Amino acid sequence: MKLLVTGGAGFIGSAVVRHIVKNTEDIVINVDKLTYAGNLDNLNEVHDSDRHIFERVDICDRSKIDDVFRRHQPDVVMHLAAESHVDRSIDSPASFIETNVVGTYTMLEAARHYWEQLPQVQKNIFRFHHVSTDEVFGDLGPIDPSFTEKTPYAPSSPYSATKAGADHLVRAWGRTYNLPVLLTNCSNNYGPYHFPEKLIPLVILNALSGKYLPIYGDGLQVRDWLYVDDHAEALYAVVTEGNAGQAYNIGGDNEITNIDVVKGICDILDELVPQKPESIQSYSDLITFVSDRPGHDKRYAIDATKIKVDIGWKPVEDFRSGLRKTVIWFLENTEWCDRVTSGAYLTHDREGK
Ligand code: NAD
Ligand code: TYD
Repeated sequence: MKLLVTGGAGFIGSAVVRHIVKNTEDIVINVDKLTYAGNLDNLNEVHDSDRHIFERVDICDRSKIDDVFRRHQPDVVMHLAAESHVDRSIDSPASFIETNVVGTYTMLEAARHYWEQLPQVQKNIFRFHHVSTDEVFGDLGPIDPSFTEKTPYAPSSPYSATKAGADHLVRAWGRTYNLPVLLTNCSNNYGPYHFPEKLIPLVILNALSGKYLPIYGDGLQVRDWLYVDDHAEALYAVVTEGNAGQAYNIGGDNEITNIDVVKGICDILDELVPQKPESIQSYSDLITFVSDRPGHDKRYAIDATKIKVDIGWKPVEDFRSGLRKTVIWFLENTEWCDRVTSGAYLTHDREGK
């Protein structure tokens, strides 16, 4: 199979690319613009594979996307490219509208015109899989039931509103044009190659360099964490086995408050890196409560029953094992961390293929 993956140089997209190249015989066409969040170092493990082809293209550029479809003739599309950081969406929402809404529209139109002219057999196989977030459902109170595929949309941030808009477009292209679409809504991911503007990698790297660990508000917000390789496996299972027109929620059954996530990281670091910056006894001494994020969602929780029952996927890692693996990965991959924190990765001097 030939899969066109958008956003394959990002955190989750690169996990999807690595999963496919390492565990299948499939070919990946990786379409990525390489924004600040795209990093070719994330693909070093598959650099030598001739089943990974990199195309530096903006998903909003219709003629270039048409050209990618024409040259590579993919069997399916996995669409992950997006602006993904809530804080950035609050500071400057324009690129979120552009990439998440206009970019998804552009991908849908290019995919539709490509799909319409395919021979019937390939037409039946084709899928447009849109990768979305649980944040489209808004937030939950402490005892509300978890999000299901039927939960109404109520996004709170510019990020989640643009992802919700994209989800609506995907459903509309399915209903109106019969494009065989698939939709997945996943909870917060963590793991190797996570860009250190997000909570978990930021806290690991700040702690190691003796910087403060910022907790927004009271730190009692709850997220449902999923190890990124579990998400990559789920996405591959959905694109290969999911029923066209269906949406699937993906989550790890790991609801944890932010403060407990941060304390958990500090405990692991206290054990693994006992030599600390001079002024502290424990890494948790660096915890600092700061102003809350505007519109901050209180709690997310995913009911992943449907994907478990219909597709047979379930996560391998629980949060304890996954967090430990993640901290160890960051400790062992100092070159990756240094190139990200120094900005050296932005030169893209390691050529993609
Ligand atoms: P990321 O920010 O790490 O990576 C996004 C990638 O998309 C980058 O490689 C970037 O260069 C690329 N990109 C951005 N704009 C582009 C454009 N206009 N054209 C082509 N490429 C472009 O994001 P991520 O965390 O890997 O998330 C991937 C997808 O999964 C997103 O759609 C996100 O909404 C969704 N998601 C993320 C999480 C999470 O916890 N990170 C959870 C659920 C769903
Ligand atoms: P984040 O990793 O930005 O993911 P999302 O906003 O998509 O859930 O944040 C995870 C949680 O951690 C969220 O509730 C905001 C909070 N947070 C902090 O408390 N401090 C920080 O420095 C960051 C980046 C996030």
